[in-house]
Amino acid sequence: MSGESAIYHLRCDYDREPLTESELDPDPVKQFRIWFEDARASGIPEPNAMTLGTADKSGHISCRTVLLKAYDERGFVFFTNYGSRKARQIAENPRASLLFPWVTLARQVEIAGAVEKISAAESLAYFMSRPFGSRLGAWVSDQSAVISSRQILLAKYEELKRKFASGEVPKPEGWGGYRVVPETVEFWQGGQDRLHDRLLYTNSGGVWTISRLAP
Ligand SMILES: Cc1cc2nc3c(=O)[nH]c(=O)nc-3n(C[C@H](O)[C@H](O)[C@H](O)COP(=O)(O)O)c2cc1C
Repeated sequence: MSGESAIYHLRCDYDREPLTESELDPDPVKQFRIWFEDARASGIPEPNAMTLGTADKSGHISCRTVLLKAYDERGFVFFTNYGSRKARQIAENPRASLLFPWVTLARQVEIAGAVEKISAAESLAYFMSRPFGSRLGAWVSDQSAVISSRQILLAKYEELKRKFASGEVPKPEGWGGYRVVPETVEFWQGGQDRLHDRLLYTNSGGVWTISRLAP
């Protein structure tokens, strides 16, 4: 009970200045850029780490952290294994939510929308920019499959290191990027006395509108 009550009292006061509609860029991608650069400048580790939520066709949900690797007006891109659990869920239900929990800044951004695979050419361009070890890692792991031991992974890694000793590691067929095409983007900022700001961009026919939500 004492442990529980210690958690019970964990609480942080936010004291950010209110976020007003007038200071937001009308384009959520441009607004995201401003906040992303703030997160980067703050020195928090891996500001591009985001929680990706997906669900299968029966509505079973799962979340995991992935890294944002690119974004522009077309959407937000991450890379992964196309045979993984998340990929199976996306194949069944091509929708996702991305959450940036920039907790030390008292900010979060949630992006939701449809998911599409990026082109093989775009995936290849990014794959070739990765260091040797990461390129090898993409070959080693049959991501999300049950394996009998860590030893299996190490043995495969050593075998592939010999196979690709020249340093040229091609992109595995089943590895690449997904793009989340935003339909809604919510910017949350913590305020005093739990009077937080929540500003939600919604896309309707290519036009973004901004609504304020109760915190
Ligand atoms: C900080 C961090 C960054 C990660 N980045 C990625 C990533 O960019 N792509 C990826 O496939 N997995 C990444 N992972 C691993 C995923 O969280 C997850 O374990 C993996 O993708 C398998 O997920 P799934 O079984 O739901 O498909 C990352 C994990 C952490 C903690």
